[in-house]
Amino acid sequence: MMRKSFERLLYLVVIAVIILSCSQKVEVDYIADQNFNQNWLFNKGDVEEGQAINLKDEEWRKLNLPHDWAIEGPFDSKYNARTGGLPVHGVGWYRKHFTVPKEHKNKQISIEFDGAMNNAKVWLNGNFIGERPYGYIGFEFDLTPYIKFGEDNIIAVKLAPEDLAARWYTGAGIYRNVRLKINHATHIPQWGVRITTPSVQKDSATVNVVTTIKNVQDDDVEASLITTLKDGNGNKVASNEVEVLLNASSEEKINQEIKIENPELWGIYQPNLYKAESRIVIKSKIVDDYSSEFGIRTIALDQEKGFLLNGNPIKFNGVCLHHDQGPLGAAINYRAKERQMEIMKEMGVNALRTSHNPPSPELLQVCDRLGIVVIDEAFDEWQMGKVPNGYSKYFDKWHEKDLRDMIRRDINHPSVVMYSIGNEILEQGKKDGWKLTKHLNDICHDEDSTRPTTIGFNFYPAPFENRLADQVDVVGMNYKPMKYAEAKALHPNMFIYGSETSSQTSSRGAYHFPLEAKTQKNTLQVSGYDVTTGPAWAYAPDIEFDMQEQNKFSLGEFIWTGFDYLGEPTPYGGRDNSTNGYWNDDWPSRSSYFAPVDLCGFKKDRFYLYQSQWTEEPMVHLLPHWNWTGKEGQEIPVVSYTNCDWVELFVNEKSYGIRKKGVDTTTIPADLYHYDKDFYESKYRLSWTVPYQKGKIKVVGYKDGKAVVQKEINTAGKPSRIKLSADRNEINKGGEDISYITVRVEDSEGNLCPLADNLIDFEVEGAGSILAVGNGNAASLESFQDNKRKAFNGLALLVVKSNSQAGTIKIKGTSKGLKPANLVVNVN
Ligand code: GAL
Repeated sequence: MMRKSFERLLYLVVIAVIILSCSQKVEVDYIADQNFNQNWLFNKGDVEEGQAINLKDEEWRKLNLPHDWAIEGPFDSKYNARTGGLPVHGVGWYRKHFTVPKEHKNKQISIEFDGAMNNAKVWLNGNFIGERPYGYIGFEFDLTPYIKFGEDNIIAVKLAPEDLAARWYTGAGIYRNVRLKINHATHIPQWGVRITTPSVQKDSATVNVVTTIKNVQDDDVEASLITTLKDGNGNKVASNEVEVLLNASSEEKINQEIKIENPELWGIYQPNLYKAESRIVIKSKIVDDYSSEFGIRTIALDQEKGFLLNGNPIKFNGVCLHHDQGPLGAAINYRAKERQMEIMKEMGVNALRTSHNPPSPELLQVCDRLGIVVIDEAFDEWQMGKVPNGYSKYFDKWHEKDLRDMIRRDINHPSVVMYSIGNEILEQGKKDGWKLTKHLNDICHDEDSTRPTTIGFNFYPAPFENRLADQVDVVGMNYKPMKYAEAKALHPNMFIYGSETSSQTSSRGAYHFPLEAKTQKNTLQVSGYDVTTGPAWAYAPDIEFDMQEQNKFSLGEFIWTGFDYLGEPTPYGGRDNSTNGYWNDDWPSRSSYFAPVDLCGFKKDRFYLYQSQWTEEPMVHLLPHWNWTGKEGQEIPVVSYTNCDWVELFVNEKSYGIRKKGVDTTTIPADLYHYDKDFYESKYRLSWTVPYQKGKIKVVGYKDGKAVVQKEINTAGKPSRIKLSADRNEINKGGEDISYITVRVEDSEGNLCPLADNLIDFEVEGAGSILAVGNGNAASLESFQDNKRKAFNGLALLVVKSNSQAGTIKIKGTSKGLKPANLVVNVN
């Protein structure tokens, strides 16, 4: 992502002063991009002439962006549960008063939105300046013609998200970052630096930098472009300077090939990054300074070895993710994204598919920094709609601009390795569906010839027969593991992978037995044994593991999904009644059950099933919990996930025998497309049945004959105390940094009470405040913005954010009948 920070400006000013004091004339004549998130006014609901200069807006709510009005709630069955049961539709107006000092009269002023949900229309001082329907795309408008220098200016933004516009929770509002740019008349415009690495050798790499320079003056200008490349420690490694003559009112693209000796490559284990600093100098004055993060790496596809990163084969252990951040809603927060991807990495994830829309710039930054490869996906719909008010309404007019802009914005991210032009687009069923596919594919290659394209297809064999699959470079198959081999045999030159897999559902900490093959409606929770089949296309992760192993040509898989998300509460709900618009059959079920991690980021058992396949550090996991009062003597299914050679189970120190990974199997129900049996023998789970007796249950994992790791669960006594623990005890001031506090209900010995649902009250004082609360229960209508939360199966989450000052945040959790807990988070 490209950013000119205030720090940079300060630095430049200091440099300029130093240079001036050496009697050489170099000055700075530009303003760094300004964070434009503060002090907006908001009105929920439509306002006549909401853009008018003289509108009385003093009473409007004052807030800072990013903002998602829908997450504020309330949940209501009158809203569509498919989009989270929250008010994601309606009209909202935002206004901001601001002044641009007179001395900037000759500058070019623009406003950049990283995204606004959705149907954005923007006015400056009552003048309409532009619109952008697609809520996920970044856009910029030129404000110069209507700016009043030295006076009050009013920017007004009207958003009008519609009901039935998505299949998931979209959020609503200006939910991503906004910047004001005060550019010199000669400057680098939005996304104006494109970096590729056409040649990468061990001892040297060529970095190609194409810089657009825009001159909006009426005069020709002589300028120099100095591009400096710096390594991850900020050391200059190379630079190049070019003299440019820019005609009046023109734009030039400058091509620079810069060599770097001994490059440190970007990869998933060592995500080394570089920075390109592009400086424009006119008559010894620095008029623009533009910074772009990039990486040096190669990607390639090989029929024998699959996807190659720097020449090394990588199998995608991927996840699909929607853009929401659970209890935080859609309002972008860097740390929330970073935490999500850290949790994913811990599970063994190395790849992400940004289902089904362009992600926030922050998410790509996180993936660049953590070493996660990304499929950057553009659309869930083309011309044929899936919901009455979806993107198909805008496709004809906007698809080309949206797709080109996504690529222009994301092209420098080393993490991005493919562009996906669609997910399960309905055109795959059409004879001439290949035409639109080709058109979109050509746009991608026209913008970026260095990355392959893909689509997630879910019909089989239609997209192959209708030749859509021929148009893209890599063919994604959703939920068709039993057909990988056939597809490859019929199309040996195609590269194939599981673009969406499994869609297993479960609730954290809920266990039902006898094991159920079909979803039970009575609890609105799905059993954590992860054997419940349904929806119809879903299947256990085990089956995908097996099919990936059997079909070595597959580039890997992307599970649906990495994190639970708001909306789409499948297997509940489920009546596609788009005529009246509701999807609320099983209200209050309102968020998804699909992921190995719940909406709060708490791990379900399935997290460890993936970890057992995708990581090497010895691990062992055990389920279910061990609180089965009333079931004494009854057979309880006990399951272990491990990457060890074998596991031994003990109950109250009595051995129940060993199970060998890859040798002993567990029979699980299976009901999936193109599979004619009802059961599947899984070699990925080890299992026992044990007559219940309270006490301690333990698994010990062995590698090479040695006990290397163990896990135990004790029968918990009555809920007795609260335990608070922060993911980070030190956070930064400034209002953007956050700490995630896990709230555990424990017995007097410190055991998690696995059934506890105590209501916990929070007091937060000092240098921060409550940002959100949650508990991962997909069927709870408690507000995410409150100072209390019930535990769900023993856990709740409190998220606190810093404010502008340094200090300490003092947090207290209390609950009737429980010993309270205190915690301090330092704000530096
Ligand atoms: C897929 C779809 C996803 C999600 C998933 C649920 O068909 O592409 O967006 O709906 O099903 O299993």
